[in-house]
This record gives sequence, C-alpha cells and structure tokens, in this order.
Amino acid sequence: AATRHEAESAPATCDGAVESNHAGYSGSGFCNGGNAVGAAVQFTATAFAAGAATVAVRYANGGATGRPADLLVNGAVAHTGITFEPTGAWTAWSTKTLTVPVNTGTNTLRLSPSTADGLANIDYLDF
Ligand code: GCU
Repeated sequence: AATRHEAESAPATCDGAVESNHAGYSGSGFCNGGNAVGAAVQFTATAFAAGAATVAVRYANGGATGRPADLLVNGAVAHTGITFEPTGAWTAWSTKTLTVPVNTGTNTLRLSPSTADGLANIDYLDF
C-alpha cells in the first residue's frame, strides 16, 4: 500500500504558502507554490527496494492553462514537462500517476515548475 505524504507537512517543503482556502484537500491543507519558475514542492519518501516505483500526485489547477513541472528524484530529472492540466476549479482535485526510479532508503521527489505560473496547488504525493 502507498504511504501518503502531505505537501503541507514536514519533511515536505513548499516554496510558497501552505493554505486551506480551497476545499477538498487531504490532511490540513495544500501547497500553493509561488508563481515562479522553480518554486517547488519537495517530498521525502522511503523505498524498501530500488527500481521503478509508482507515485501519485494530487493537485488542483483552477487556472485556464496547464502548469507544467519537472519531477526530480534525488536531484536528477526523472520527468520533464509533466502537464498539470486545468481541473476546472481550485476545489476540483485530480491525481496524476507517474513511474520513477528510486534508491533503497530515503529519496527526495521534487516537483519544480517550468513556467512563471508556478505549480498547480499540490495536495499530496502517494508513494
Ligand atoms: C489563486 C488561488 C490560489 C492559486 C493561485 C495561482 O490565487 O486562490 O490557490 O494557487 O490562484 O494561480 O497559483
């Protein structure tokens, strides 16, 4: 079973503000990253085996355009230009599933936006 890593709770870090003004999030809030290239949210997750792992990122994008981001695992780019498409409202949450290479033990998973709009609002990462 996956472990849920909330974006608003340490050890996760949010280059922006933890907020709770848009309903439907898990836990106590979500990360509203700054509207800037590279304003990231970073998760720390433990893997029991090295290899390909599935992660699911829950997000909301109430804007009119996608909020593309790269996913870096332990500092190396694993995915570029992940599309976080509009979800219709900031209260409409959707999940994006990705496969990433991980090491045994602690891994960092960093979502780093590639446009000046910054990230979608990020709720959690299941790993
Ligand atoms: C609005 C919204 C925020 C969102 C922001 C954005 O301000 O309330 O939750 O993060 O737009 O466009 O990034």
